[in-house]
Amino acid sequence: MADSGKTQGRGAWGSKLGFTLAAAGSAVGLGNIWKFPYITGENGGGLFVLIYLLCIAVIGVPIMIAEIMIGRRAQRAPVDAITKLTGRENTAWSMVGWMGVVAGFIILSFYSVVAGWSMNYGLMSIGRVFQDKTPEEIQSLFGVLFTSGGINLFWHLAFMLIVVLIVKSGIQGGIERWSTRLMPVLFLMMGVLVVDAMFQDGFGEAVNFVFGFHTDKLTSKGVLEALGHSFFTLSLGMGAMLTYGSYLGKKDDIVKSSIAISLLDTGVALMACLVMFPIIFSFGMSEQAGPGLVFVSMPIAFSQMPGGLLLSILFFFLLFFAALTSAVSLLEVVVATVIDQLGWTRKRAVFVMGSAIFLFGVPSALSGVEWFSSNWEALFGRNFFDTFDYLASNWLLPLGGLMIALFVGWAVPKEVAAAEFSAEQDGELEGGRLVLFKVWHITLKFVVPLAVLLLFLYSVGVITEDMLPGVASE
Ligand code: TRP
Repeated sequence: MADSGKTQGRGAWGSKLGFTLAAAGSAVGLGNIWKFPYITGENGGGLFVLIYLLCIAVIGVPIMIAEIMIGRRAQRAPVDAITKLTGRENTAWSMVGWMGVVAGFIILSFYSVVAGWSMNYGLMSIGRVFQDKTPEEIQSLFGVLFTSGGINLFWHLAFMLIVVLIVKSGIQGGIERWSTRLMPVLFLMMGVLVVDAMFQDGFGEAVNFVFGFHTDKLTSKGVLEALGHSFFTLSLGMGAMLTYGSYLGKKDDIVKSSIAISLLDTGVALMACLVMFPIIFSFGMSEQAGPGLVFVSMPIAFSQMPGGLLLSILFFFLLFFAALTSAVSLLEVVVATVIDQLGWTRKRAVFVMGSAIFLFGVPSALSGVEWFSSNWEALFGRNFFDTFDYLASNWLLPLGGLMIALFVGWAVPKEVAAAEFSAEQDGELEGGRLVLFKVWHITLKFVVPLAVLLLFLYSVGVITEDMLPGVASE
């Protein structure tokens, strides 16, 4: 390829496993361990989980393939990648790239705050803080953390610093190195926690809750929540997978990798449920604790169970590692774009953008501070966190995913897509792979746009709860 010097020195994965673990590291995060269990709890488990799995398979995996493919073909960060594939600058498509940068800013700024809590809770576990406390005291510990601007800012800064240091060291030396170290540890810790959960009294009840077919609590809103979450959990719609794909070599099989990454991500989300719900049920706590499920219910349970000290340390470090490899991918999108667009060095891009995101996250870190949050809520009707989370999961990511699907489905020549879809770049498509390609292409052209359109119509209130088929029987 007659590429300009731009491609040289932009970095590449050292191995296929390295790419898969880094991408899985991006996907597996707070979305799996913090958010998925609590939205599963709120939506009554069962059918919600099934619909979520469907969204992953039908919408998520096809978009992931599309994103990685754009990145590998162009070997560029999102904005340039799309320009390169269309052959024209500043088309409407390059909006996807810029939106991704904005989404990266927004997501990382609140993500880092929650990740900071996991560090705080990890250290509190080591310090045996929960061990001889009553449930009320543990509950109020979270209140103290949440409402203290200073503590939140400290952890937000600490977390961002670690993310900056990893991304600064580049693709192989930073992101890949840390993903291949942390992800196996994460899987191992998860395994230990699941095995332990099997011996809890509430395990049967939890399995039934998560996998049983009960429809009682699910609403249409829950269905759309499952769709929005499938973008978030797979890191889709803002160019993260695209950027990681841009460091991928010709020999790799994008379809297989995407399936593997999605399976790992879904596996961890389900395991998180199987770790948390048995404990929640065994101790007679509510599964509907919302965002506090991880930071209030779990420490209460840990304080009362045998071996709880060790388990709580494992659990919160697991959460921290999961958050770290995800945050790294969010910063990498922003950094890679700045390197491509402005020609900055990686070091400069990382420090400038990392600092900017830290500052942008200050309001999130102050979410629980009374004077700040009451003014914000008066203005936007929800707290700072929820505002950002809602904006990203319900608007930016689905919109980005939609544009990527439309781009690859309609704008990228079909032969190019086919060449990327085969087992290695520019290979032949035949047999089952050819059938799969056709199904995938049609999904991108029609199914994904339709699903996202529904989500939007619902979000702006054109479609309301009572117009949709009532899954709920309240
Ligand atoms: N997928 C991560 C999680 O589940 C979060 C994340 C990392 C992300 N990179 C992203 C979400 C890019 C959207 C886009 O926690």
